[in-house]
Amino acid sequence: PLTHEITFDVGRTNLAPDGFTRRVWTVNKKFPGQTIHAFKGDRLKVHVINNLGDEETAFHWHGIFQNGTPWYDGVPGGTQCPIPAGEEFTYEFQLPQSGTHWWHSHYFAQYVDGLAGPLIVHDPKDPYLQKYDKEFIVTLHDWYHTETPELLKALMKPLQEGYSEPAPDSGLINGRHSYNCTLAPVGTTCISNHSLSRFVFQQGKKYRIRIINMSADDHFNFSIDEHLLDVIEIDGVLVKSQQVNYLSINAGQRCSVIVKADKTINNFWMRAVMGVDDTENGVNPDIRAIVHYEGASLNKPKTQDWTTKKDKADIVDLEPLTLKPYLNEFSPLPVGTQFILTIDLRPDSNNYTKGFVNNSTFKLDLDHPSLDKAIRNLPIDGPHANLYTFDKPGEVIQVILQNLHDEHHPFHMHGHNFWILGAGKGLFDKNNATLNLIDPIKRDTEDVPGEGWLVIRFVANNPGVWTFHCHLEWHLEQGLSLQFLELPTLLRNYQQPKSVKRLCLLSNSTNTNS
Ligand code: C2O
Repeated sequence: PLTHEITFDVGRTNLAPDGFTRRVWTVNKKFPGQTIHAFKGDRLKVHVINNLGDEETAFHWHGIFQNGTPWYDGVPGGTQCPIPAGEEFTYEFQLPQSGTHWWHSHYFAQYVDGLAGPLIVHDPKDPYLQKYDKEFIVTLHDWYHTETPELLKALMKPLQEGYSEPAPDSGLINGRHSYNCTLAPVGTTCISNHSLSRFVFQQGKKYRIRIINMSADDHFNFSIDEHLLDVIEIDGVLVKSQQVNYLSINAGQRCSVIVKADKTINNFWMRAVMGVDDTENGVNPDIRAIVHYEGASLNKPKTQDWTTKKDKADIVDLEPLTLKPYLNEFSPLPVGTQFILTIDLRPDSNNYTKGFVNNSTFKLDLDHPSLDKAIRNLPIDGPHANLYTFDKPGEVIQVILQNLHDEHHPFHMHGHNFWILGAGKGLFDKNNATLNLIDPIKRDTEDVPGEGWLVIRFVANNPGVWTFHCHLEWHLEQGLSLQFLELPTLLRNYQQPKSVKRLCLLSNSTNTNS
């Protein structure tokens, strides 16, 4: 196994991903952030230098379990104190899970301003390795022309004072798109007809495309004109291949597909249609890139979307719950602990829109991380800790999420992936719900349907404090989040590295309100 040493110089750079110039929060001046490639079992050592000047930061490795290193999970107030401006901090951990993952800041909405990039863990024993010639990464973003500290102000206002959930201005494929600059406000810099991302295919070859949705809020419907997508991986977990025309991917989720370049030499549209419910900004949800076969002209594609096909009956949308695991590891052990979590998003008694888990809004205590308290055997109380504890190694945990809100919420679990037993509309009723207790798929981010339910299971085998939250960033900011305290008895034997403790000493001296 190798140790990959990487430096993250965190700052801000003026960039125009869609033609509109804004300050973008960057690692090493790049957006989207650099791709980290490693092999299964390797170690990653990331030196973060916070050169933001006026903001703290912290990095999460989305999809990595941090088994034995819970303090490097990157959640300020959860697993560490934030890294103050001007300070450095090193994350160091193992990568036991292969697959398509990503890294992003977990400090407020910083990742939406640009602090995110792919983390690809290769496996020399990947059974699909022989099925393709080359890989591409596709990152999807909803994109905002206003910096998130500004957006968060409007989000945190009560209804009568002009509360508004941010609406994106555009979307990006691999950090590029073309904004219609006639919509840009006066005094801003915007250049129309910005070039799109381009993927070069060789006719006859096969490609693995690793799709990562890094959005704050939007799901995308992904397709490539005239090309079928063979789904083989979701969130780092291999599945039996399934062919689809379209696939829908939620914020935080990843998916690998194999695509055959078996068409006549030409240019084709790659499409990622944003699921925006708010088109107030005049946002164009139709985000595109170009698939260019070597030897084709450099003209724009003229291809048509699958929906224009005459025989609509042949059009297949991916339904994740119909996927089958490549290796079925489902453990049919009886459930040890069950949590029923009722989630909602609604105005609180003061008319502020908040997220609720069992009627409680999660509140961050940035400078007093729960993990530190757990290791020191101090109570993690407070009415807003939203803490759910289990302490029996190896027991099966079942979680029933019941969504009272009419919108869907993609929930992401840190420290684990989970089997998805079932999902449905309405109130969960154990006598009528169909649950898959034979070969459910596993992933780390899954949608709880609007006014519906989701049932998941996982095994208690990773001591830590793990955040479980809606990956729609605005909802996380509104407190739609909870923490699992897993195996606290074992956790009390853990030793936090000095550098982790040091962060708290630093931040307690800089943050006067603590
Ligand atoms: Cu990708 Cu807690 O996040």
